[in-house]
Amino acid sequence: MTADSLTIGVFDSGFGGLTVLRALLAHVPAANYLYLGDTARLPYGSKSRETVARYAESATRFLIEQGADLLVIACNTATALALPEMRTASAPVPVFGVVQPGAEAARAAISLGQRSNGAAEVLVLATAATVHSHAYLHALTDLGLTATEKACPLLVPLVEEGWLSAAAHPDPVAREAANLREAVTLQILRIYLTEALSDAPHARTLLLGCTHYPLLRAEIEQTLAALGRPLRIIDSAAATAQAVAVHLRCAPVASAATPRCTFYATDSVEKFQRLGPHFLGQPLPHVHLIDLGG
Ligand code: DGL
Repeated sequence: MTADSLTIGVFDSGFGGLTVLRALLAHVPAANYLYLGDTARLPYGSKSRETVARYAESATRFLIEQGADLLVIACNTATALALPEMRTASAPVPVFGVVQPGAEAARAAISLGQRSNGAAEVLVLATAATVHSHAYLHALTDLGLTATEKACPLLVPLVEEGWLSAAAHPDPVAREAANLREAVTLQILRIYLTEALSDAPHARTLLLGCTHYPLLRAEIEQTLAALGRPLRIIDSAAATAQAVAVHLRCAPVASAATPRCTFYATDSVEKFQRLGPHFLGQPLPHVHLIDLGG
């Protein structure tokens, strides 16, 4: 099957996975896309394996029913906790998760020389559920690297609320509020990164193991620089899109073609439409409200 006759289903717990769709649009622009954000049951990152598996199975079944020929599980938590269940639910449709491509991208970025010089340590930032699963630790260890995982549960809500870099506001009150919000985000990042870096003194590579963290990349880089540890950053969203493109043998393109995307959400359609463009990098068309049950 060629990419232009292919329908790729992209699943996330919410709209954070639009960062993965954005990368897919750049690498596989000819495909049709179905994007499902399970916004009614977000966040997955604080839930148990059983619950995440149940949610993720119903979401994958929905995407298959809508005609997906290939599934990309953009959600790190769902990938870490429930990839086998999703593969079973969607067989024979192939399923890509984000953990393995993220780990492989980290390995590719660390040269052989660095690996033998003790710089094989990767610091992984992720949700609490992803960290407790140790999915990244296992994937990185299998590739001959070592890993230190750090749960950063406050980062998803900060991104969801748009507490990112302060935009230029003409109104002084709005400007002051935006500056204060940005300062809070930087302070929280500093706490997490100070703790994480002290647990990973040799790490030179930082893996963003959550859909939302690419939106904080500038703030993370700023904080790492302030802490005197400018680590190389690996984004599992980009790595996953590359893995799908390699699987489909697509040549990368400089810019995305006109996307043919259909969006579904299980709740908060208005919020999805309002915040989604920050993740996708372009306006969203209509978002369909659907019910996955239970
Ligand atoms: N999509 C989740 C992930 O990448 C983050 C949001 C959530 O906790 O549901 O882990």
